[in-house]
Amino acid sequence: MSLLIRGATVVNADCSALADIYIRNGKIAAVGPDLDVLPETKVVDAGGVLALPGGIDPHTHLDMPIAGTRTADNFEQGGRAALAGGTTMVVDFVIPRQGQSFLEAHNRWMGFARSATCDYSFHMAVTWFDESVAQEMGVLTRERGVNSFKHYMAYKGTVMLDPERMLDSFVRAAELGCLCTVHAENAEIIPFLQRRLLARGMNHPRAHPLCHPAYGEAEATQRAIALAEAANVPLYVVHLSCSQALDAVVAARNRGLPVFAECLGGHLAVDEAVYEQEDPAQAARFVMSPPFRSARDRAALWEGLATGSIQVVASDNCSFTDAQRADALTDFSRLLNGTPGLEDRMRVVWDGGVAGGRLTPEQFVAVTSANAARIFNIYPRKGCIRPGADADIVLWDPDALYTVSARNHHHAVDFSVFEGMTFRGAPVATYLAGKEVFRDGQVTAEPGIGRHIPRPVFGSDFRTILEMLRSSFHNKKRYNDLPEIRHP
Ligand code: URP
Ligand code: ZN
Ligand code: ZN
Repeated sequence: MSLLIRGATVVNADCSALADIYIRNGKIAAVGPDLDVLPETKVVDAGGVLALPGGIDPHTHLDMPIAGTRTADNFEQGGRAALAGGTTMVVDFVIPRQGQSFLEAHNRWMGFARSATCDYSFHMAVTWFDESVAQEMGVLTRERGVNSFKHYMAYKGTVMLDPERMLDSFVRAAELGCLCTVHAENAEIIPFLQRRLLARGMNHPRAHPLCHPAYGEAEATQRAIALAEAANVPLYVVHLSCSQALDAVVAARNRGLPVFAECLGGHLAVDEAVYEQEDPAQAARFVMSPPFRSARDRAALWEGLATGSIQVVASDNCSFTDAQRADALTDFSRLLNGTPGLEDRMRVVWDGGVAGGRLTPEQFVAVTSANAARIFNIYPRKGCIRPGADADIVLWDPDALYTVSARNHHHAVDFSVFEGMTFRGAPVATYLAGKEVFRDGQVTAEPGIGRHIPRPVFGSDFRTILEMLRSSFHNKKRYNDLPEIRHP
């Protein structure tokens, strides 16, 4: 029931210090030098590595039903991948079918998560809207711990919300003291370009990125910002992938609007050249939206993280096996969208961020854990190592070198978008509510150990959100010559 982690450099988003961490009953009881503890306490010597708050990945799709199949990583296996990479909590998405009760869909996803091996919470995707939905949104906030509503501006005909209804949903979310999130891509441009390229005989997945242009993402980002401003609701842009969309976010933030942005580990490390592989099955492994982009876009994302314009790195883990994509290899527009990335998210950020000289260790904690906790209103229960917080801790070796291989990762697919890349910085051990669940490459978490974490609404003043906006940097400097990261 009690554990002492001795002699770690404890890194929080706001400061670091050499300290012991005393854990009792799953919570952090004390942090400080030479702590006195009960005699039966188990002692773990940190051996001089760093102790970081467990990572929070606020964008995953585990066990997600889609087009008659499910994403390959479920809450048990996806959770294992998370823990092996130092992430102790995910925020996944409940995605109701058209006309389906949001409460019923929420029950369904809670059922999927019963086997979770890491902590979890849910955003609710608003896939349709009427008075009954508005009423259920209220129930979700009061009784189910939901404080964020997701809006797909793309995927027309499936999960996209009718644009007229999106504003209704934003207004309702504002009324409830919640946050709105958006997948921002122009929904007309994507099918238009798909039809045009298919008509020219381009059916290989290399056509996929051509149909998801940066200008379409930027336009939708700007439109979402305008709607959020009209509805007076804080906005969080998921998987922002390009410099043009970032420009829209920076401009909004410079006007004082509560607009937040998330980028993905994959978008920070993987180049658009992956779609050029001749074998369509290989290229299809990288199909996701927005797609992997250029070196210039990656430089902009890193700079957005360094300057505080982007607050969070997520994974958008949405994995499919080769078999699940096999029947669409001759028509790229029918390929299931999504890639794995949960396990390697934190490594990517340490390597390119801290080892690459772009981020301090404290900023690393901010963008991989603390900022998500604050934006989604579970701070300081999550996102920090201080008395009273959940004892979700990762012991992190800043110098360890790790080469990604699907042969030894914990995902349910036999490829990785980071295959062969070597990253500096890796978890040594992961603790979930004070229990060791990962060490030396082995995940020992039992299915069901993960807990549902309810997230309270912000209330009408959005104080936490506004403090967050003010405390993050407003450095307007853009596109300085940050070095491009190279991988062997
Ligand atoms: O391609 C992606 N990103 N698939 C997952 C669903 C989404 O759009 O976030
Ligand atoms: Zn999306
Ligand atoms: Zn997603």
